[in-house]
Amino acid sequence: MSFTQDDITRSGYRLPTAPPDSWRTYDERNPIPGYFEFDWLSSRHPDLYHQFALSTVGLMNKLHTLFDLTGCDVVDIGAGTGRSAMEAAKKAKRVFAVDLYESVVAFGRNALQKIGVTNVHYVIGDREHLPLAENSVDVAINAWAELNPHEAYRVIKPNGYLIQMGATLEALCGEITAELAPDYEWIPQVVAPAEVYAPDYPDAHCTADNSIWGGIPVNGPIHVHQFTYVADYGDYTELAAITGRLYGSKAKCYFLTKQQATFAWRLQLMIGQVSK
Ligand SMILES: C[S@@+](CC[C@H](N)C(=O)[O-])C[C@H]1O[C@@H](n2cnc3c(N)ncnc32)[C@H](O)[C@@H]1O
Repeated sequence: MSFTQDDITRSGYRLPTAPPDSWRTYDERNPIPGYFEFDWLSSRHPDLYHQFALSTVGLMNKLHTLFDLTGCDVVDIGAGTGRSAMEAAKKAKRVFAVDLYESVVAFGRNALQKIGVTNVHYVIGDREHLPLAENSVDVAINAWAELNPHEAYRVIKPNGYLIQMGATLEALCGEITAELAPDYEWIPQVVAPAEVYAPDYPDAHCTADNSIWGGIPVNGPIHVHQFTYVADYGDYTELAAITGRLYGSKAKCYFLTKQQATFAWRLQLMIGQVSK
């Protein structure tokens, strides 16, 4: 089944999952590329999102060195295909993986079943109305996704934690940020220097003394940890195809020209204890 971009947008990205690998020929009926359409990506092409999302594994591996999820009930807000939820489940008691789109939820459930993980519970739900009771989780995690602070606050238990993860502001598109920034107004024009992407570039840690974090009352400082993570895709032509589809032809040329199968990120975790 093929749709026009208008069909897809009008549906609120709720059309059925497209066949695996069809992203390689996406938009045949409407050649406008639609780069950076991450909702389209989640809702129509979870296979592409899952292949791309290795940086989330890096974030979660680092999180396990900074914070002990052992025995915790965790909600993963904007869980996608499950990269973050599956990693959290290695330590947590239960993970409630919440996402708006059926396609990523179906993909994630199937992947969990294949590897025999039983402590991740996928729920289709909106971050604006989380399908969880108040004070029901010890930790809310949010990787490469947005949250509604009031809803996150509502479901986190007193003295529970909020953990937000993604890239640093000046490195939103990883090592290709400087290449892309001139073409996209929304990318901050002050970009991280190239050296931060070297695999041995040191971690940085600081604390921010806020009593309110993004609308959420917190106890004590927010911990901010930045580190470099190099995702290995194994095959540079595949990485070029993936990034070309997501970020455009400049990204594709970058990896093809360098014959590079790795993608380096400067990532950031922020951890705060909720005050109730
Ligand atoms: C960039 S993905 C991150 C997925 C996952 N956390 C990871 O790191 O691999 C963002 C996710 O937010 C989901 N999303 C978008 N709007 C949402 C909403 N209103 N409520 C819940 N999830 C939403 C998308 O479907 C997508 O799966």
